[in-house]
Amino acid sequence: MSAFDPGKEVPRHIAIIMDGNGRWAAARGLPRRDGHRAGADSVEEVLRSCRELGVKYLTLYAFSSENWKRPESEINALMGLLAHFLREKTPTLMRNNIRLQVIGHIEKLPARNQRQLAESIAMTAKNDGLTLIVALSYGSREEIVDAAKELMKKAKAGELDPDALDVETFGRHLYTAGLPDPDLLIRTSGECRVSNFLLWQISYAEIVITDVFWPDFRRPHLEAAIGEYQRRHRRFGGL
Ligand code: IPE
Ligand code: IPE
Ligand code: MG
Repeated sequence: MSAFDPGKEVPRHIAIIMDGNGRWAAARGLPRRDGHRAGADSVEEVLRSCRELGVKYLTLYAFSSENWKRPESEINALMGLLAHFLREKTPTLMRNNIRLQVIGHIEKLPARNQRQLAESIAMTAKNDGLTLIVALSYGSREEIVDAAKELMKKAKAGELDPDALDVETFGRHLYTAGLPDPDLLIRTSGECRVSNFLLWQISYAEIVITDVFWPDFRRPHLEAAIGEYQRRHRRFGGL
């Protein structure tokens, strides 16, 4: 990895697949939920670092539509941590001018989480320092199907000409409407896959995979990933 250069441009939008909490815990003989709890500290540090470095959008993959397959006890632990995080950190979001948004099928979350999310989103809506987008019960294929459904309804109602459909219009029907695409996608724990995350939006993202488990991911790892990004030459299909 290359060193981070504070004089060079930082990515405007960073997306992170926060993976490896379970393996981090297993390596220490701890229950998986302890890995998730430790991962919350990484979220806090990465969020603070992004704010300080001038990153404008940070999208965190916190719970996938496939993660509902996990044991109920683990799902409960994760939802409990989310509740704890929102309760403890919403004042920090306010202090740091951070706006919270969510993408995913939030209506599938426990009512308490939904309520808290709605409150934190409303409270932080006018902040404009950094936008934190949390992907919860999120699946990119579902997102694309949802967009297709919306578009088909509009076509059926005569509000959209199918032949006029283009990439921009389609993008405006995704959960991420209005947000720029990620410039840098980071996945921790060494897995080389995207696991149904932002399939449309990462078309031209630079991908950095690190072996570090998410609970160990700290500012130096973030800076190393940004350093790697700064060294890349993005061509977008051109020369
Ligand atoms: C990422 O860590 C957190 C979630 C997917 C919710 P994992 O729980 O997937 O940890 P590993 O991959 O089993 O180590
Ligand atoms: C991706 O991690 C989802 C999140 C980080 C929330 P997973 O651990 O669920 O992905 P797979 O199962 O390794 O592909
Ligand atoms: Mg995993």
